[in-house]
Amino acid sequence: MNVSICKTALPQCVSDAAVVGLFAGEQPAGPAAEADRATDGLLSKLIQRQEITGKKFELTPLLAPPGIATEQLLVVGLGEQAKFDAGVAFRAAAVAAKQLAGKSRAKAAFFLGEMQAKETENAIAGAIVGCHGQDIYRAEKKRFPFGELLWAGSDEAAVFRGQVLGESMNLTRRLVNEPPQEIYPESFATRAADVAKQCGLECEIWDQPRLEKERCGSLLAVARGSARPPRLVILRYNGGKTGSPALALVGKGVTFDSGGLSLKPSESMLTMKCDMAGAATVLGAIHAIARLKLPINVVVLLGRVENMAGPAAYKLGDVLVARNGRTIEVHNTDAEGRLVLADVLCVAVETGAAKIIDLATLTGACVVALGTETVGVMTNDQPCCDVVLESAQRCGEPAWQLPMFPDVYDEIINSEVADIKNVGDGRWGGAIAAAKFLEQFVSGKPWTHLDIAGPAFLDKPKPWLDGGATGCMVRTLVEAADRFSSS
Ligand code: BES
Ligand code: MN
Ligand code: ZN
Repeated sequence: MNVSICKTALPQCVSDAAVVGLFAGEQPAGPAAEADRATDGLLSKLIQRQEITGKKFELTPLLAPPGIATEQLLVVGLGEQAKFDAGVAFRAAAVAAKQLAGKSRAKAAFFLGEMQAKETENAIAGAIVGCHGQDIYRAEKKRFPFGELLWAGSDEAAVFRGQVLGESMNLTRRLVNEPPQEIYPESFATRAADVAKQCGLECEIWDQPRLEKERCGSLLAVARGSARPPRLVILRYNGGKTGSPALALVGKGVTFDSGGLSLKPSESMLTMKCDMAGAATVLGAIHAIARLKLPINVVVLLGRVENMAGPAAYKLGDVLVARNGRTIEVHNTDAEGRLVLADVLCVAVETGAAKIIDLATLTGACVVALGTETVGVMTNDQPCCDVVLESAQRCGEPAWQLPMFPDVYDEIINSEVADIKNVGDGRWGGAIAAAKFLEQFVSGKPWTHLDIAGPAFLDKPKPWLDGGATGCMVRTLVEAADRFSSS
């Protein structure tokens, strides 16, 4: 989508639609006030009659408004002015974009008024994300991305950052939304290689023989039940000083999770194409980091596997040997994500990275604990974790830390047969048990784990987003990379 700065004032701006923002309980300000004057007080009249309130995400389309050049003036509620932040900016712009993208439009103009750079950036990202849906295979499309998006404002750098973030989120969303017969380990690796080429990243792909040579026994065990061979993809962006230790971003890329022999019930399996969202998210993040030329070295590692129940499938009771020599007793083949990540985290440690962040649709337990919209955060290093939490807050992405008390949780993955088992004790504390398992493979390096099982994929649409993949945490990771680069 073509994004450019709008040079004309709202009344003169020729467009299919112009979006203005209104705070709850306030009179029109900025461009909304200009629109009000040009339309002979149309907005203030509607506000007075309480037809428009400015309540968060309220939408009021005014068709063919007199006195201004646009075909449609769309008023979006921004909620209370004191509570406006980058998160609200993202969602408000997305709400408006989603509504407008219900029809094909050559030109949509956004006049959301004065904002800080971070809010501008997030609002533009929201506008770009809001007008893409999950209708990839529908003859009759539900969303039509604008031919051109005009943005009223002067901060060109923020507009560019917003565009890059929105496009990177859509890259992530597209990969997650595509069906599992299109996105399997090899094809996903090819797509990553395309992204690498497009933004000048180094790209290394480990195929099955290489993974065997590299002793990735845990990842390989999960792959055995599938006719699709696994891949490990390593991407490098070198924007920082030569030799300065990188930030490692690790993603769970289970392209379909049937549960394996511990087969999932059909309803739970339906959306399991989303189980590669962690990998798609870190790919979206490095895409943005590279396009923004952030001064940091980043290495991305993607573990791609399909978890199936074919004749060679790994079994309950099997004992696997991970790359770092740890032995793992398999108690449930549906706890496959941690087995894939075990080996990938070992490789991440060996790259010499300074810090590791992993993203994974890892546990249903995390969704039980925090609901569908909040990311679970677990760490062995509070300073690194704080940067991630602050970044999430700055972008308005809900994230909450769960404890990792050694005395309470270290024992729950003990096995009688091997060093550890791949599940915790019964159903309690399942998200933390998974994190405790992962912790065994980071060799004490500063590491933060993000469980995105809830927020990565929407079963039902939100006012600001169609159902399906959300692209959550792409903005947060880019913000965190920015902070790490300047610390
Ligand atoms: N991919 C699932 C977790 C998941 C659940 C992702 C819901 C997205 C939405 C993961 O591989 C899984 O199956 N985890 C099990 C672990 C259990 C067997 C210890 C779970 O959460 O039930
Ligand atoms: Mn599973
Ligand atoms: Zn899974």
